[in-house]
Amino acid sequence: MPDALELLKTRRSFKAIELSGPAPSPAEIDMLLTVASRVPDHGKLAPWRFIVFEGQARRAAGEAIANAFRTKYPDAKAEQIEAERDRLARAPLVIAVVSRAAPHVKIPEWEQVLSAGAAAMNLVTTAHALVYGANWITEWYAYDRAVLDALGLAPHERIAGFIHIGRPPGPPEDRPRPSLAEIATRFRVSGA
Ligand SMILES: Cc1cc2nc3c(=O)[nH]c(=O)nc-3n(C[C@H](O)[C@H](O)[C@H](O)COP(=O)(O)O)c2cc1C
Repeated sequence: MPDALELLKTRRSFKAIELSGPAPSPAEIDMLLTVASRVPDHGKLAPWRFIVFEGQARRAAGEAIANAFRTKYPDAKAEQIEAERDRLARAPLVIAVVSRAAPHVKIPEWEQVLSAGAAAMNLVTTAHALVYGANWITEWYAYDRAVLDALGLAPHERIAGFIHIGRPPGPPEDRPRPSLAEIATRFRVSGA
């Protein structure tokens, strides 16, 4: 396992299409979900849940995506519909992070949403720690009501991300990162 800081400093996303099998084992999937659910969570509400797509189930879910695409674009070509059917079958494993944020007497919804983001990030980081590659994507179908219904999301639930996981093709090249000078300031007492 890579050193924790080295892992965090060098992690990078891969394209879903670049991620190949074999898929993580059942024990590894348990590990991914265990760490994903071990995130800061104001009020201990567990305002997120996970849907695992593996094996044939990826294409079955893809059928719902293809159907929704066909409804939106009745003139779509057969190959476009086939590409939609394959959306969740590009990588050997996809885990959807579902935000269950809802109004609460004490805990702002915003904080519940942030907790789902933390769960998604923990999934990505754990995938890398297990020497898999990952890609956190949403794409159009994360926002399509017909797809969400088919995947079993309640009206108030939202997709925080479809985390694609598989073996990466090789070491990733980094992308430019924002300079700390642009994104970080030190608060100073005025006049001091
Ligand atoms: C909530 C969320 C949704 C995203 N959805 C997409 C997406 O639909 N398509 C895409 O190409 N990248 C998407 N990204 C960006 C990728 O996950 C990734 O950050 C980027 O490709 C490269 O970043 P990295 O190498 O620093 O991880 C999304 C990121 C976040 C946080």
